[in-house]
Amino acid sequence: MRVLFVASECAPFVKTGGLADVVGALSKALAPLGVEVRVMLPAYPALAEVLATGEEVLNSGAFHGGPARLVAVRAAGLDLLLLDAPHLFDRPGNPYADSDGRDWSDNHLRFGALSLAAAQVARGELDGWRPDLVHAHDWQAGLVPAYLRLGAKPAPPAVLTIHNIAFQGLFPAAASAELGLPEAAFNADGYEYFGHVGFLKAGLVYADRITTVSPTYANELLSPDYGLGLEGVLAARRSDLTGILNGVDLAVWNPATDPAIKAVYSSRAPKGKAANKATLEARFGLMPRADAPLFCVVSRLTRQKGLDLLLEALPRLRARGARLVVLGAGEADLQTGFLEATRRDPGSVGVVIGYDEPLSHLMQAGSDAILIPSRFEPCGLTQLYGLRYGTLPVVARTGGLADTVVDANDAALAAGCATGFQFAPVTAAALGDAIDRVCDVYANAPAWRSMIRRAMRHPVGWDRSVATYVALYRSLVDGAEPPVDG
Ligand code: ADP
Ligand code: GLC
Repeated sequence: MRVLFVASECAPFVKTGGLADVVGALSKALAPLGVEVRVMLPAYPALAEVLATGEEVLNSGAFHGGPARLVAVRAAGLDLLLLDAPHLFDRPGNPYADSDGRDWSDNHLRFGALSLAAAQVARGELDGWRPDLVHAHDWQAGLVPAYLRLGAKPAPPAVLTIHNIAFQGLFPAAASAELGLPEAAFNADGYEYFGHVGFLKAGLVYADRITTVSPTYANELLSPDYGLGLEGVLAARRSDLTGILNGVDLAVWNPATDPAIKAVYSSRAPKGKAANKATLEARFGLMPRADAPLFCVVSRLTRQKGLDLLLEALPRLRARGARLVVLGAGEADLQTGFLEATRRDPGSVGVVIGYDEPLSHLMQAGSDAILIPSRFEPCGLTQLYGLRYGTLPVVARTGGLADTVVDANDAALAAGCATGFQFAPVTAAALGDAIDRVCDVYANAPAWRSMIRRAMRHPVGWDRSVATYVALYRSLVDGAEPPVDG
């Protein structure tokens, strides 16, 4: 089966968050099951070298004021189709914003072009490669199902995955004509969202099936608090919505082979973790101490991630003698809050503001526990990396966090199945209580060691979910029975 992935990010080439990890890892994980994936991505500057080694496979004509072509290239184990349209994508900054963090004003044209090019490929305009199905990811690819369904030519089925419904791709009504969308479908049953063109809304309406990245988030999305205005659209498509849990690229995130860490280790030979901790402490200028855990955060610094609650709970963490290292970038008040915390308490709180892939691996390897107090979390990947690296996740009980971490309550501890700590409600007080519980278990060395062993052995790969995706694809392509929730 041939599947065209369409996305705005893909690891290891372009990444601002978990979307990139999932697009890269899932396409690789599908290959052994006989699914041939090509990933369509914009040719950002980060892909310039890869682009130069590729071969032009389609001259798409002119897209929104400049030439566009598709270049096929194999790199890092992935088959890419790069949309080379320099007037849209050859720009500094991240995929969505300029170097000062301001969204590009023509993002509707940029990602509209991506969707249009994907629709060309889906309809068979590429010589020798026609996909049986298109899998669009997030709002940036949300118009793909719309172009396919609203166009006159026959088109393959389309799946849309919601990685985060907080990003909906809303643009003024005038975008409709610029994007070549039919006026007749600019209504509540079509791609309109309250007077705007809604990219994600369009995807939700026109995709044949909708998935999201955990079963709990799939349920949460049906309520206004989580659906963020799209809960009604999703309720109408409830029978087409499935939650399929994300996995981890076990080759990239493996403490037994990771080239970015100081010393490799495994659940059988865990000793190397201590060397990583010492390196991490030195890197952040922390005073070593053995009587309390070292917590870490590796995250976008946004309201979604609940890190304001961590700032509020920090005195409780410090009262237990625990220490904290933070790697992240994002909202100015959170950056300032963490920088102030490290200024007040330099030997115990360390902060790096920025994006640093190798350091994120060292933090997973060298910390005792990872804090993820998210207000909502479609899936979350850092808790999965934490499990794999024996860095126990401390998570808010929401979305994929609730689905992947077994809370160390008395029953779970007695039954020997706990892998981390969950807390609810998502408040600073409940987070503080969870931090206390972590410190209590940490003080009991045999209990802590056995939790680490269990966490590291907990299956976090793609095996199970990839089979669910294949069953879903087959149900659309061959009319097989659709899978039950992931
Ligand atoms: P989200 O996609 O909402 O940001 P996820 O947990 O799914 O959350 O994925 C986040 C990904 O981004 C993980 O791979 C994490 O390690 C990485 N990441 C987040 N912030 C940073 C950072 N400042 N430096 C390096 N990696 C980061
Ligand atoms: C989004 C979500 C995150 C999820 C990731 C990959 O960025 O915020 O929870 O893990 O997508 O699906």
